[in-house]
Amino acid sequence: MTNTDTDSKTPDLKEQSIAILAANDRGDYTVPAHGLYPHQWLWDSCFIAIGMRHYDIERAQTEIISLLRGQWSNGMLPNMILTYSRASRHKPEMWRSQVSPFAPDNVPTSGITQPPMIAEAVVKIGEKLPMNERRKWYQKVYPAILAYHQWMYNERDPHNEGLVLQIHPWETGLDNTPPWMHELHQHMLPFWIRAIDYLKLDGLFTVLRRDRKYALPGERLSTIDGLCLYSIQRRLRRKAYNIDTILTHSILTIEDLSFNSILIRANSCLKSIAKTIDKDLPEELVDSMKKTKNALEQLWDAYTGQYYSRNFTTHKLIKIPTIATLLPLYAGSVTEERAEHIVKMLKNQRTYATKYPVPTVPANSEWFKQTMYWQGPTWVNMNWLLIEGLKRYGYNEEAENLREKTLKLVETKGFNEYFSPLDGKPAGVANFSWTAALTIDLLEQ
Ligand code: GLC
Repeated sequence: MTNTDTDSKTPDLKEQSIAILAANDRGDYTVPAHGLYPHQWLWDSCFIAIGMRHYDIERAQTEIISLLRGQWSNGMLPNMILTYSRASRHKPEMWRSQVSPFAPDNVPTSGITQPPMIAEAVVKIGEKLPMNERRKWYQKVYPAILAYHQWMYNERDPHNEGLVLQIHPWETGLDNTPPWMHELHQHMLPFWIRAIDYLKLDGLFTVLRRDRKYALPGERLSTIDGLCLYSIQRRLRRKAYNIDTILTHSILTIEDLSFNSILIRANSCLKSIAKTIDKDLPEELVDSMKKTKNALEQLWDAYTGQYYSRNFTTHKLIKIPTIATLLPLYAGSVTEERAEHIVKMLKNQRTYATKYPVPTVPANSEWFKQTMYWQGPTWVNMNWLLIEGLKRYGYNEEAENLREKTLKLVETKGFNEYFSPLDGKPAGVANFSWTAALTIDLLEQ
């Protein structure tokens, strides 16, 4: 993009983004999109706050503070704070968070978490504040974020290995990402779902799906995959979201690569928050943080030259490449050599360098479907994470290139939830909040 291009287009795109966020604003929090997503989601609000800080810093702070009302007394931040809505598929009674003694009394939430983007959002807001206000801001949120990070290690790293495990694909934010769906189909499909699949009865359930009102069938997960996710959710609820019970009842658990990469970056952000307000992080937490950096290397497979997620129980890498393969760049903890290798993958036209990058599954994978949710489409939040990572390793030209392509995509195709990486076709819901918010952040870079 030339300067003239930027000058003539910038105000417009920013104004449109602000208007979308205003339309999705529900007072103290922002919904991901009108209709399909009526609740507050954890990582969505973090991305939203990262955009909002450029034009309304107080509202950006409120977005984060409103997330904390859902925090459980054990430290967990739930992936959803539920708003009652007749139309919603995620109703409070579906989650019944009250079955856990740790859930807050008057705030209905889900019982699982989502990638820990909150420390990054807090720091990005902090960067916009003068030092005295930044300190006040950090002091206000520090106890909650510290508790959240401690919870991740206490509950989700039972063997003290440094990698935290996830108990539902929704926790990764990449709902139907191939490594999880592969493991579920291979080992974990309940008999009743197998029967529905075998007898081809999924059509009966498809009729009941709300998401089909908002997106085409080829753009959402299949009914069988959807039933799979709901079935794990029900099992978790039956175990009252108690991690000890969950771990002894062969529920699929994965040390997810994207989650752990984001955790590494989140840990650096938490350290910098603590340093700014002269707090010492608890020693045990500092030890775990160090372990995570080293443990990420265990997810590297020398034979294929890639990082992968790992099945927590079998300790086997799940060797299906996805966008997560590239996220150690965002973690910022891998060597220059590994970073260079990832950048090469990013530039390979057969895999990730499609016309409208970056596909969430490489274009030459048997899993690739250009508009199928997290099994191919380009998502703006993934591009944003990669741009941050590229800059961190000094790949400024590559970062700029991806920034321009991402902005061009939104400008020409709209503020959708995701896009075909091959022809840019917009997919999923329109006027999606994090697409708008991160567009603002990319414009301001
Ligand atoms: C979908 C996405 C998830 C997001 C949520 C709300 O479930 O997979 O990442 O947080 O929608 O936008």
